[in-house]
Amino acid sequence: MKPRLGTLDELPEDYVEELSAMSVTPLWPNLHALLPRGIPERKTRPCLWRYGEVRPYLLRAGELTPMEKAERRVLVFSNPGLGLEKMMATPSIYIGLQLILPGETAPCHRHTPSAVRFVIEGEGGYTTVEGEKCIMNKGDLILTPAGTWHDHGNSGAGPVVWLDALDLMLIYGLEASYAIEGPIQDDNNMADASRTRYRRAGLVPYPSLNAPRPAYPLVRYPWNEVRAALADLAPAQAPGEAVQLAYVNPETGAECLPTLGFSAQMLRPGEEARPPRRSASSVVHVIEGEGQSEIDGETLAWGESDTLAVPTHARVVHRNASNDEPAYLFHVDDAPLQRKIGIYEEFPDA
Ligand SMILES: [Fe+2]
Repeated sequence: MKPRLGTLDELPEDYVEELSAMSVTPLWPNLHALLPRGIPERKTRPCLWRYGEVRPYLLRAGELTPMEKAERRVLVFSNPGLGLEKMMATPSIYIGLQLILPGETAPCHRHTPSAVRFVIEGEGGYTTVEGEKCIMNKGDLILTPAGTWHDHGNSGAGPVVWLDALDLMLIYGLEASYAIEGPIQDDNNMADASRTRYRRAGLVPYPSLNAPRPAYPLVRYPWNEVRAALADLAPAQAPGEAVQLAYVNPETGAECLPTLGFSAQMLRPGEEARPPRRSASSVVHVIEGEGQSEIDGETLAWGESDTLAVPTHARVVHRNASNDEPAYLFHVDDAPLQRKIGIYEEFPDA
């Protein structure tokens, strides 16, 4: 058996103090905490945020705090395992619930973190990204990648609520997070690219074959299209195979943001999905349906618009509670970043 590593207490006090005075730290007392054997240490807890519970507090925020005092009126889903002050759903994924009331606009800015919006409720919401006005219907995914100008508005008659997912805390951790403010954008009076240049998968504007591929050609992914695509995929998948589609850049086929990945999954009536255990952490948002997720042995029962946090390396089972209706899940994960830095893994254990 290997000897255990020495602790800080075993070192002479004056030795440790003199090292500290030089801003120097011995590694070995912390080595196994930093590099645990076989599986990472995970503080992130399996977690469920119930929309029905949080929604009244979000609407209350609309009464308590005018937009001028909030800029972005958001309640952040903070994983208690990581500490509420850290504002992390998982170590890489920031999740907020944002409210915009009729007639309000959230001022224009751009920033180094990348963001997406996933619409939960309301009519008349919109996000303008680099002059492209994206209508926000329930279930639509809208990207505001790093460095792109974006502002939000609500021209409807009731509240509009969406889920924000950002790589904010990753970029903040790099001490590289900042924003620049700008004037509200004039929109280009065109339908967004999902209804024009990138109307159908497999088709791109002809000139793009002879030009550098744009980094973010498509910023709105309408839910009605994704839902129909899942419905058509379902019969083509054998039982036990996930009915799941990834959101990608239509020009390159790569994930649509560099750090975070997005996918939509249909759980067929009565289906129990057992994705492989993997190195990525994720957040799962329920678009439609009711069911349970078992995450590292903890069972969390969910309904429409609820949101779950899944730690890295977790064992996961998702179950659709209905034997008649499909359930739909939206997944956010940090697999794109993990793949880029060469640490993404899937484990074929039972
Ligand atoms: Fe923003």
